[in-house]
Amino acid sequence: MMLLGGVALDKQIQETYFQYLDDIKDWCKEILFTNDAARTWWRSETERLLDTVQELQYKDMIFSDDIALIEHKVEEITNQLQLNVQERRRSDQVPIGGHKLPPLPYSYNALEPYISREIMELHHTKHHKSYVDGLNKAELKMKEARETNDFELIKHWEREAAFHGSGHYLHTMFWDNMSPRGGGQPSGPLMRKITEDFGSFEKFKKHFTEAADKVEGVGWAILVWAPRPIRLEILQTEKQQLFTQWDTIPLLGLDVWEHAYYLQYKADRKDYINNWWNVVNWKDVERRYQEASKIRW
Ligand SMILES: [Fe+2]
Repeated sequence: MMLLGGVALDKQIQETYFQYLDDIKDWCKEILFTNDAARTWWRSETERLLDTVQELQYKDMIFSDDIALIEHKVEEITNQLQLNVQERRRSDQVPIGGHKLPPLPYSYNALEPYISREIMELHHTKHHKSYVDGLNKAELKMKEARETNDFELIKHWEREAAFHGSGHYLHTMFWDNMSPRGGGQPSGPLMRKITEDFGSFEKFKKHFTEAADKVEGVGWAILVWAPRPIRLEILQTEKQQLFTQWDTIPLLGLDVWEHAYYLQYKADRKDYINNWWNVVNWKDVERRYQEASKIRW
């Protein structure tokens, strides 16, 4: 073993250092490969770090000071990358009451002869627009309730948020779900999963058709991904919510059916709710949030 400046530089440590440099080299390459946009501070820094790492790899011996310098650089770049991600997310974020009618991904007559121009134009500019407006109003009214501590009309605005919110999110998905070059069958992993979960594409199509046909009153048939059983499923929804906002992922729930509290709290639901806050598993909510927040449609 060699001793230099009080630092043991035996073979094992050297191997660890070289392995670390290898890992950092891969990390740099990955960043440069996946972030090929305009030149930025962190991109130049990553290129410089990659050069330094490659130079070190030609040396016979690595010192702990070299590694400390690399670690410092890695931390700097990581911090900057995280800031960039947060910045990007902030710019994508819709402020309360700030939803906008998204443009159609094709022209109004693009789905003819299957869906007429007149239907598409009315559906998009009148109906979808009214859901956007209704959602914005409900969100602003709920914000107002929080600020004034006046929750007298909260049930009404929650219902409005569910109806208009689901309307906005489902229609946004619906436009993207169609294309003038559509039709046929899916392929790849989706086709394999449909076959696995429904028996065949024909069986899926029949089930979906029947579910859509038999919606009571107005509503939707929706193919959903159910992460718990890891399966596809077909659901019906009346109106477009009853009462949820489709396209959202639940993070924390509270059962307020009487069966959840009556034996202990009798009719005092408020007492049950107040006590329930003492047993919330925030770690689980945090875990769900961590996974759900990765999703961008
Ligand atoms: Fe609609």
